[in-house]
Amino acid sequence: MKVWIIGSYGIVSTTAMVGAKNIEKGYDEFTGLVSELPHFNNLKKNISSGFEFGGHEVRMKENAYEAALEHWELNRHFDKSFLETVRDDLERIVAKPGTALNCGTGLSELGELKTLEDDGLNLREIADTLISDMKKFADEETVVINIASTEPLPNYSKDIHGSIEGFERAIDDNKKEYISASMLYAYGALKLGLPYANFTPSAGSSIPALKELAIKNRVPHAGNDGKTGETLVKTTLAPMFAYRNLKILGWMGYNILGDFDGKVLSHNDNKESKVFSKDSVLEKILGESPYSITEIEYFPSLVDNKMAFDFIHFRGFLGTAMKFYFIWDAIDAIVAAPLIIDLARFLIFAKKKGQYGVVKELGFFFKSPMDTDIVNTHKQFEILVDWFRGLQ
Ligand SMILES: NC(=O)c1ccc[n+]([C@@H]2O[C@H](COP(=O)([O-])OP(=O)(O)OC[C@H]3O[C@@H](n4cnc5c(N)ncnc54)[C@H](O)[C@@H]3O)[C@@H](O)[C@H]2O)c1
Repeated sequence: MKVWIIGSYGIVSTTAMVGAKNIEKGYDEFTGLVSELPHFNNLKKNISSGFEFGGHEVRMKENAYEAALEHWELNRHFDKSFLETVRDDLERIVAKPGTALNCGTGLSELGELKTLEDDGLNLREIADTLISDMKKFADEETVVINIASTEPLPNYSKDIHGSIEGFERAIDDNKKEYISASMLYAYGALKLGLPYANFTPSAGSSIPALKELAIKNRVPHAGNDGKTGETLVKTTLAPMFAYRNLKILGWMGYNILGDFDGKVLSHNDNKESKVFSKDSVLEKILGESPYSITEIEYFPSLVDNKMAFDFIHFRGFLGTAMKFYFIWDAIDAIVAAPLIIDLARFLIFAKKKGQYGVVKELGFFFKSPMDTDIVNTHKQFEILVDWFRGLQ
């Protein structure tokens, strides 16, 4: 299969490439991959086994090996032999320059950028270039996955985002202030009929205009924001309180992380999207919003070792208040990268089975699943398994 990655030189992207290419070469320890669970035994029968990668980037490097090595030197997040085994493959992956439209102040932290806007292109020319890059790469088994830095919440206009007609008119009229990079990439993928996933909290394909395009072109898509850490634990634990009729009085989640993602999220406009995505889950599970604090702070020396400290205050029988604490201490790219492979596989499968529009059943993978309020991890997993079985 082929995977076109938006943000190809990031740590999640390059870790996914290293993992996929090692699997292609025979590495058969599949811990972390949902698609390798016995529930999905027949999934791979429907999909070719190799992985080819391409994508868009705004931090120009020689190739994906150089980018992966830079992340490895900062993080040492896996045994270096995994990187060296696939060095030649990664050296052949060279990203195309992308767009940074409305990506917020956080991108300034990433150093010098090379974007299509630098060449003075208007919105239509940028969109056409993105589409042409994807088209040259794509075949029948290609997915597009957005793993670029988190954008600020978009400037919303019903006239522009409410229908594909309005969206395309805005592109032709060069209304740059309303269109973000993640929307443009998603537009390109859906226009070409390529299944698309948004692993970030950015808007991506979640605006009505692009949902309409996905239905019109019969393309499956899914998002938003990979559920990999604190929110995964939160949406797994919160149902327990609900099942036992224990009342949550307050939930505080304090997250610290370093690395490029942490740098970008240290900017308030970029951070806002992430906090919104993490914060909305409790109400969906409990049917009410307890007092809640969600913080994300930049902590450079941790690099990609993201930590979450959660404190839950709850009330039990006879009104007695009690406390629960947890610490999640994980390597962000290691929990996220296998999900990129999973999403690519499930979306290709969905396309082959004639599924199109938002694939709600893939909500299991996301913090803010589109078009559903089900965020309880246990329920989401059952839904995924039932969906897969039903399509056999
Ligand atoms: N790691 C996790 O567990 C996890 C979970 C959920 C969501 N995410 C999201 O995934 C994304 C990537 O995380 P990461 O840790 O790999 O970050 P990263 O900073 O290492 O990678 C992001 C990459 O995107 C590139 N980029 C930024 N804007 C771009 C644009 N407009 N076009 C093309 N490329 C662009 C950057 O140059 C960078 O190489 C973030 O949005 C993050 O919030 C990560």
